[in-house]
Amino acid sequence: MTDCGSVLPPAPEPDVPADTREVGVGPWPGGPQAWPDDPRYDPVLLAQGDRRNVVDRYRYWSMEAIRADLAGRAHLLHVAIENVSQDLNIGSIVRSANAFNVAGVHIVGRRRWNRRGAMVTDRYLEVHHHAQPDDLLAWAHEEGYEVVGIDNGPGAGLLERAALPRHCLMVFGSEGEGISPGLQESCSRLLRIGQYGSTRSINVAAAAAVAMHAWVLQHAGPAPD
Ligand SMILES: C[S@@+](CC[C@H](N)C(=O)[O-])C[C@H]1O[C@@H](n2cnc3c(N)ncnc32)[C@H](O)[C@@H]1O
Repeated sequence: MTDCGSVLPPAPEPDVPADTREVGVGPWPGGPQAWPDDPRYDPVLLAQGDRRNVVDRYRYWSMEAIRADLAGRAHLLHVAIENVSQDLNIGSIVRSANAFNVAGVHIVGRRRWNRRGAMVTDRYLEVHHHAQPDDLLAWAHEEGYEVVGIDNGPGAGLLERAALPRHCLMVFGSEGEGISPGLQESCSRLLRIGQYGSTRSINVAAAAAVAMHAWVLQHAGPAPD
C-alpha cells in the first residue's frame, strides 16, 4: 500500500526453473586410492561426482553399465506411439517407459521426435523407429508380441478388467487423432482407461503411464526400491 492508498502491482518474478535443487552426490570420498574397482563405476563420475537423475543404486555407474543392468531385467512390455507431430508427450512416455523398465519404445512415423520430456532417459533403453505401422506390426509378429491398442475409441474394453498378455506391445495414438485407423484394425483388442469426469480423454503421456502401470501390476514383481 502506498501513501496515497493505491496498490502497486507485484514485481514480476524472475524467470528461473521452479526446481533448481542440485541432485546426486559429489566426488567419491577419499580420492582415487579409495575408489571401488568394480568396472561398472565410471572414473569420471567417481572423480567429479554424479549429478544425474538416477536412483541411488546406480550412483557412479557408467551409462553403459546401467543400460546393461536394465536390459538384463527388462519387462516383456513394449510401447509404441505414433509420431505425427513431434509431440512433446513422446519424451514423457519414454521417461515413464524407463521408470517401468519396459524393454523398448517404438516410434512410428517421423523419425525426429522432441526429446525434451525424456530427460535423457532415452539413452538408457532401446528406442526403435518404424517408418510405417506395418513395420511395427512385422516386428511384433516376429518377436511374438500381442499388439494391444490403448485408446478410448468405440468398442474398447476396460483396461481395469482386462487380463493383459505377458508379451505385450501397447500402442498409443497421437493427441489429435488417436491411433490411426489402419493400426487400430491390426490391434488384437482396444482397451480404454475408465474415466469418471467430463473430458473425452486424458493426455496420452498420462494414459501411457497408467497403462504401463496396469501391466506392471499384473506381471512384474515388487519394484527393486
Ligand atoms: C487425446 S487422445 C486422442 C483423442 C481421443 N481419441 C478423443 O476421443 O478425444 C490421444 C491418445 O491418448 C490415449 N488415451 C487418452 N485417453 C485415454 C483413455 N481414457 N483410455 C485409453 N487411452 C487413452 C490413447 O492412446 C489416445 O490415442
